[in-house]
Amino acid sequence: MASIAQGKIWKDEDGNAINAHGGGILYFDNTYYWFGEIKKGKTTRAADIRSWEDYRVEAGGVSCYSSKDLLSWKYEGIALASAKRDTSSDLHISKVIERPKVIYNERTRLFVMWMHIDKYDYSYARAGVAVSDKPTGPYHYIRSVRPNGQMSRDMTLFKDDDGKAYLIYSSEDNNTMQICLLSDDYLSPTVTYNRILISADREAPAMFKFQKRYYLITSLCTGWDPNKALYASAENILGAWTMQGNPCTGPDADSTYHAQSTFVITIDGKKNEFIFMADRWNKTDLENSRYIWLPLHVENGKPVIVWKDPWNPDKQ
Ligand code: GAL
Repeated sequence: MASIAQGKIWKDEDGNAINAHGGGILYFDNTYYWFGEIKKGKTTRAADIRSWEDYRVEAGGVSCYSSKDLLSWKYEGIALASAKRDTSSDLHISKVIERPKVIYNERTRLFVMWMHIDKYDYSYARAGVAVSDKPTGPYHYIRSVRPNGQMSRDMTLFKDDDGKAYLIYSSEDNNTMQICLLSDDYLSPTVTYNRILISADREAPAMFKFQKRYYLITSLCTGWDPNKALYASAENILGAWTMQGNPCTGPDADSTYHAQSTFVITIDGKKNEFIFMADRWNKTDLENSRYIWLPLHVENGKPVIVWKDPWNPDKQ
């Protein structure tokens, strides 16, 4: 791609549409690795669910793309495959595999992927973990958990400067988020966790850090439909977190540009250069969902997302 064209089809180096939704980025060895949900095939709506629009595709697993410049993306294949036959597997195509995020563990030298694992009706509410000795995978699936017995749906990972890593997830029927410190090998939740954004109905968490302050951008819970993003900030990662305003500016800021947060890429923390990654879902044709990536910087303690279309991250 010559530049980021918001909401258009983005093609990889082979000319195929990039299929990496609800994604996240790992920066390792001067390379960006983009992991995301493979959404392929027909979108159907679960007929037995009336209270909300449960549109879904078969779980396609997790894709991986790599890039040096965030524009030209090489397809690295399926990092974590879904399971076609074993109906009891967390990764069976009838399940939900969403919002994969990967971090690198310096001690074990392993790449650790966490993701939202669910049943078609979202009643399972668990966090799955997989591991690989190469950034691109294949990842070996270990298990899913409910951290400290708590529900876990939309989630993200955050690795702090001191090497500690955290799982941040919508819990308590999506009413309240929680943040849980992971074990030193990043493979298990610890008993250190806190309830945050209490009764605020937030999901789609994307966290970053700037000048020792933590920021968490989230959406309201309205399924695949867009709504207004809000950010929260905190001095200590485990809280207290204070809900603040909408970080989006410009046209369609109140619907997050018809999209939903998924990740914030740190380009250069010192230079205050970040990228806000969001999904513009197409709920009745999920494979045709698109990406919105916009410049984000912090001004007087407030994250500001600026609409730019087209946009070249080099010229931020
Ligand atoms: C959204 C969530 C998505 C997906 C969807 C299912 O609220 O952010 O990741 O789970 O619900 O309806």
